[in-house]
Amino acid sequence: MNNRMLALAFFVVSLGPMSVLPQKRASAADSSHDYSELNKAPARARARMNPFQNDPDAVIAGQILFSDHCTECHGTAGGGGKKGPSLRRPEVQNVPDGTLFWLLTNGVAWRGMPVWSKLPEAQRWQLVRYLKSLGVNDGLKAGPKP
Ligand code: HEC
Repeated sequence: MNNRMLALAFFVVSLGPMSVLPQKRASAADSSHDYSELNKAPARARARMNPFQNDPDAVIAGQILFSDHCTECHGTAGGGGKKGPSLRRPEVQNVPDGTLFWLLTNGVAWRGMPVWSKLPEAQRWQLVRYLKSLGVNDGLKAGPKP
């Protein structure tokens, strides 16, 4: 636990004073969430390779970033929360890393998913590694929990 706190402190410090506050509160999406934004990633964005593809430490770094920035809406381990859909569905788990990186970079602001372009690129790729490490859990509802 102590080590984790240390790592967390390190990350908070390394994030510095920049603000990555969500731009808008999500109004709860419905349970028939369609993940269609992911289909909009341009081919060039989709094709980008994750520079951390073979770096297991990136998963751990991504996990810390995820609990700092994402669990609030997407729930513990991405299982879906009150404000954000599950990230364990095949619609998310089966897309290329480049697509997820593109989505983080651009957000879906009008539907409550913040833009994360202020997080350094490396951290966005680490988040993608963590997301992919979670794997599919189809039993989870697509939409936010009631
Ligand atoms: C303020 C709430 C909120 C936060 C914080 C948030 N998200 Fe989201 N996220 C959403 C919502 C709402 C959607 C659904 C957007 C839509 O309808 O397309 C979403 C969609 C997504 C998707 C695509 C799935 C889809 O619906 O197309 C991914 C991937 C994702 N979020 C990852 C993240 C990650 C990683 C973080 C942390 C860096 C994060 N989100 C932080 C609310 C949030």
